[in-house]
Amino acid sequence: MKAIINEILEKDCKKAEGILEVASNIILNGGTVIFPTETVYGLGANAFDKRAANRIYKAKGRPQDNPLIVHISSNEMLYDIAKDISEDAQKLIDKYWPGPLTMIFFKKECIPDEITGGLETVAVRMPRNKIALKIISNANVPIAAPSANISGKPSITSGSDAVEEMAERVNMIILSDDSEIGIESTVVDMTTEVPAVLRPGKISQMEILETISDTEDEFIDNLNKLENFIKEQYREDLIPKSPGMKYKHYSPNARLILLDKNEIIERVDNFLKGVEVPDFEFEDELQKELRKFDKQKIKVLSIDDNVGLYKGFGYSLGNNLDDVGKNLFKTLREMDKIGVEIILCEEICLEPDRIDFLNAIMNRLSKASENI
Ligand code: TXA
Ligand code: MG
Repeated sequence: MKAIINEILEKDCKKAEGILEVASNIILNGGTVIFPTETVYGLGANAFDKRAANRIYKAKGRPQDNPLIVHISSNEMLYDIAKDISEDAQKLIDKYWPGPLTMIFFKKECIPDEITGGLETVAVRMPRNKIALKIISNANVPIAAPSANISGKPSITSGSDAVEEMAERVNMIILSDDSEIGIESTVVDMTTEVPAVLRPGKISQMEILETISDTEDEFIDNLNKLENFIKEQYREDLIPKSPGMKYKHYSPNARLILLDKNEIIERVDNFLKGVEVPDFEFEDELQKELRKFDKQKIKVLSIDDNVGLYKGFGYSLGNNLDDVGKNLFKTLREMDKIGVEIILCEEICLEPDRIDFLNAIMNRLSKASENI
């Protein structure tokens, strides 16, 4: 298979109606299309068609028990596929859709088990990228779309990375702008008493509780309920609620090690000093490991301000959280392209008032790393 590849920037979406019609027709014929969203690129197929769903799993090499997110372009589509849509859900829809929030609902019959990995629930999101919305609304069917990467690899946030990794695996790729957010959507379970975040993202658990609570008292009440729910989960739930959370994720070919800034500085200094005595008593495993590599095979990922601390090894992820989010997956892929074999990544400290988004970013990094 060789994908049809077309370049369309989001701002030129209107001029490209013909190409987007082609994309929608491929979807309706059971094929696969990679398209941009504001979070990461998605690999889409008709959510009503189980054979198309299987093509997604095959293209990604993804385990079939890991369910897919269904993308819609209107509220009507939600009511076609999901049941028991609560008042809380309606508040979240009004505030965050279209946008980077995925909600889990009980599913209707029309969504096949192949999409949900056999679960009785379905994950739904209305993306805000105009190209994504247009492909869905033209096709007039919901589109199941996981992140467009090969399973286990970093998500794809640039059109050229999509072409490089997936051109032989799907029917069409819309090569577009770099993803605006760069981190996948927040996944929130709407089937529990209080909406509980299963995968952190740009929209935080606290914002969700604030949105569904009309008063301060209600907010505190919801927070307490959530805390109790989480405690119970830890006690009884050995099966991860979001099946995707149990798999290896986001990993570049290079080894990635997450460390405190000062620990990296120390390793870099020692490396440059070149410890002469083999198996030097005070050397740790990582220091020994580093010694096996040429200088250019080692990189340190850090915030912009700290790049200079790492004496030629530093590589900037950006100087604010939004940029770090945007650059993260692209940078991990870049490390592989330039042949880096070992990445030391700083535990990022930035914008303490946005701790939830920082946690969402660190969640991806820790899953990609060896520290877990
Ligand atoms: O931003 C995003 O969400 C991107 C873009 C393309 O929309 N999509 C994405 O899909 O990240 P994927 O398949 O890479 O991740 C979906 C996550 C997985 O962790 C999966 O286990 C979880 O959502 N999920 C899907 N359906 C679920 C369900 N019914 N119950 C619990 N978790 C579910
Ligand atoms: Mg993914």
